Amino acid sequence: MTHDTDADVCVIGAGIAGVTTAYLLAMEGRSVVLIDDGTPGCGQTGVTTAHLSAEIDDGYTEIVRLHGVDGARLACDSHQAAITRIETICTQEGIDADFHRVSGYLFLSPEHGEQILHEEMAAAQRAGLEVEQLRHAPVNGFNSGPCLHFPRQGQFHPLKYLNGLIEAFTRSGGRVYGGVRATTVTGGKLALVETAPGPRIRSTAVVVATNVPFVDVFAIHTKQAPYYTYVIGARIPPDAVTPALYWDTHDPYHYVRVQRTSNAALGGDNDDVVDVLIVGGEDHKTAQASDTEERFGALEQWMRERFPSAAAVEFRWSGQVMETQDGLGFIGRNPLDADNVYVATGDSGMGMTHGTIAGMLICDLIQGRNNPWAELYDPSRIRVGAAGEFLKENLNVAAQYTSYITPGEVSSLDEITPATGAIVREGARKVAVFRDEAGEIHKVSAVCTHLGCIVGWNKAASTWDCPCHGSRFDAYGRVLNGPASKDLEKIASHSEDRANEHVQK
Ligand code: FES
Repeated sequence: MTHDTDADVCVIGAGIAGVTTAYLLAMEGRSVVLIDDGTPGCGQTGVTTAHLSAEIDDGYTEIVRLHGVDGARLACDSHQAAITRIETICTQEGIDADFHRVSGYLFLSPEHGEQILHEEMAAAQRAGLEVEQLRHAPVNGFNSGPCLHFPRQGQFHPLKYLNGLIEAFTRSGGRVYGGVRATTVTGGKLALVETAPGPRIRSTAVVVATNVPFVDVFAIHTKQAPYYTYVIGARIPPDAVTPALYWDTHDPYHYVRVQRTSNAALGGDNDDVVDVLIVGGEDHKTAQASDTEERFGALEQWMRERFPSAAAVEFRWSGQVMETQDGLGFIGRNPLDADNVYVATGDSGMGMTHGTIAGMLICDLIQGRNNPWAELYDPSRIRVGAAGEFLKENLNVAAQYTSYITPGEVSSLDEITPATGAIVREGARKVAVFRDEAGEIHKVSAVCTHLGCIVGWNKAASTWDCPCHGSRFDAYGRVLNGPASKDLEKIASHSEDRANEHVQK
């Protein structure tokens, strides 16, 4: 992108929410510019395990408590419609995204009795979801015990889908610019998006779909919290485990599905069919745990106890989930902003359906149509029943500011091994220090550029993550994920010896 440009709508963020919104608007003849500071799908869409479920992951028992039966019915309707929309788009656009309808099974964690299943089944039925209780799931390779069965859920390959959607978008005249970071959004009759490279985009509406919006300071960030989740993948013999979505009642829950692929796709030298078991869980509040290896280890042990056909773990990755205080995403007009600035955030562990709902809902709002889900997902909403969660998460955020007075994590830069980072204290300030593969030290301020919490090193992703509202920065301090919109402040390099003099544990 080299020049200022005009469009009907500017969409910021090329993950599933942004791309779906851009695609649906383009299909209605609107002129749309889609920008992303990286490449499409380089954020959380690229690391999701892509469960497509209308059984909300907090459970309908909780959704009915927080949103009432009518709200739960709308939530169920919206997630079912999102799965159907993905299936329809794959068919209409000829996108081979490995979309399949599969059953979902919710099974008991050892600490729970069957009562929890009875209650959830009753709540899900009140929400309008088809569900039955079984003595065990009728599947190969897994002894579930008592479980709930949700027919006709789904799974797909999110990046194949995203790429197909972008091709369809550009065929319809949509414009996509990667490597363009939006820095400010000014709403109003003619909204203006300013970008880091310089060119500006003028439009009649702006959609901020950057996982966590950078255009909001308090209104949304106090109502959602960042959590980190871990995933492993291991080969299983073909058909050893029936493809389905499996998850348990543990808190945080474990989640499992099967992805069929080819040996060549995994780097092998033939096209033999390969099934990969994908297992996730071990979530914790972002940047508030550093036992990454232990968490991957616990996940593997959990898998081996339940899926004995799994071979060695070949794949490991992690991702961030934005958990809202009431279990549903924030989708609609940005609070305290002009009427033509829209946001989509708060994936709540269901980013693929919430992202698709965002596309459908925001498209309706921009096109001036009523949408029955608008009030349910309104980012300005406050649910009285969520007050306890709001208080708990915001007390947790307040507690993070005590990091200003705690010691550093290492007493000498020598303790930082290549390709890792640690927080050190230099006099009164905290410094985020990264040692690259070549042994060179890189230092940035550890103070998050959003609201000043102290970031922490994420071993699983080699990033600096903020424990307060989910901002993430690469090892050199460049912002990857909002709400922060600015990089961590660079600290002038001293020689390593001199820097060591200032390190205080
Ligand atoms: Fe808000 Fe860092 S994300 S202070």
